[in-house]
Amino acid sequence: MSKYIIRFLIVALAIVAGPSFAEKITYSKDVAPILYKNCITCHRPGEVAPMSLRSYQETRPWAKSIKEKVSTKQMPPWFADPEHGTFSNDPTLSEKEIATIVKWVNQGAKQGNPKDAPEPPKFTSGWQHGVPDHVIELPVVNVPAEGDDYFPNLSFKAGLDEDRWVQAIEIRPSNLEVAHHVVIFMNGFGGGGMGSFDVLGTWAVGTAPNVYPEGMGRVITKDQRFMTNMHYHPSGTKAVDQTRVGLYFGEGELKNEITATIGGSFSLYIPAGASNHREVDSWYVEDDIKVISFFPHMHLRGKDMRFTAKFPDGREQILLNVPKYDFNWQLFYYPKEPISLPAGTEVEIMAHYDNSEDNPHNPDPTRGVGFGVQTTDEMMFGIFEYVYDDAPKEDTD
Ligand code: HEC
Repeated sequence: MSKYIIRFLIVALAIVAGPSFAEKITYSKDVAPILYKNCITCHRPGEVAPMSLRSYQETRPWAKSIKEKVSTKQMPPWFADPEHGTFSNDPTLSEKEIATIVKWVNQGAKQGNPKDAPEPPKFTSGWQHGVPDHVIELPVVNVPAEGDDYFPNLSFKAGLDEDRWVQAIEIRPSNLEVAHHVVIFMNGFGGGGMGSFDVLGTWAVGTAPNVYPEGMGRVITKDQRFMTNMHYHPSGTKAVDQTRVGLYFGEGELKNEITATIGGSFSLYIPAGASNHREVDSWYVEDDIKVISFFPHMHLRGKDMRFTAKFPDGREQILLNVPKYDFNWQLFYYPKEPISLPAGTEVEIMAHYDNSEDNPHNPDPTRGVGFGVQTTDEMMFGIFEYVYDDAPKEDTD
């Protein structure tokens, strides 16, 4: 066939295939549903993202940047290796959704007919999970203008009228300019080493509210006392933050009480200049449990972290692999189904660090670095939330 005939056939095919061949992607019909579902929990006023994406008018100026961020998979933020585990809070767009957005931008990011757009989801201003049943207001923190990172240690009470169990918890600093992270502990720091840290919850950029599976929750007694590990960055001007904790009470019977623990190392040491330093530690499981979430944590030199279960029968399973750790995104990973770990399982925690000058986030490649609370020090731990497997009921008679 000659070149001309081929060209003719292509043109004819395009005419016959008609609209589907030259399909017009519009904001209203195709793009709004994707953004509503995957983006605007963060991209709306008062939340962590720098701009809102709730309407065509708000979205249009960002079209090029949206195309870039979704096609490079930088947005929505997610860091778990898809080869290991499936997670209920995985916001990753499908290849089809990415292609739709890319095509929409390439075609000029048109609005289309506003009537095609779905009803925008309703949000409660100031909360991601809706209006809480009870709000705990933490003491006000005055963050100095200058100097080192600031770590106030606060102690406060739940202030409930009676003991309750909660099915969801949302932690919200009021000042995102200076707040870096919040960890809230029940009962303070226990005496028995790392395993006795009982974490109620954490917040950092990208951390969604903790919402527990059906029938599972945390018990909070009416006089419950909490302590914090909070971290603020001085911003050049004096600043004030008041963090609030929203509690969402569970309905009916609490079937499984959730416990949270920290596993990891206080004795890590990363030599100056090391570009791929490895640290390994373990969390030993003493009872039959089911893990409902993982939270890996390192600082600026953290490269990757992996949790591997080594079962008593010799089997091994990678529970979570974060191959490109990013300190700016502190995420919980909720397995789709709770993961059973029998007593005697060792969960290996393995991390690599880049303390060389090739790491653009490295504050000082000439310094060996160990455990510490400053951002410029390092950490290596995972938080594990779990329930006891077939926990005996306390009130059996
Ligand atoms: C968990 C919260 C969160 C979700 C979900 C999220 N974003 Fe973002 N987004 C952020 C934050 C915070 C930033 C600014 C920091 C950064 O760029 O990493 C950002 C930055 C961006 C930027 C770059 C803005 C700039 O200044 O150039 C784009 C574009 C973007 N997001 C688009 C999206 C789209 C599209 C989705 C959904 C498919 C989405 N985001 C989902 C929090 C989020």
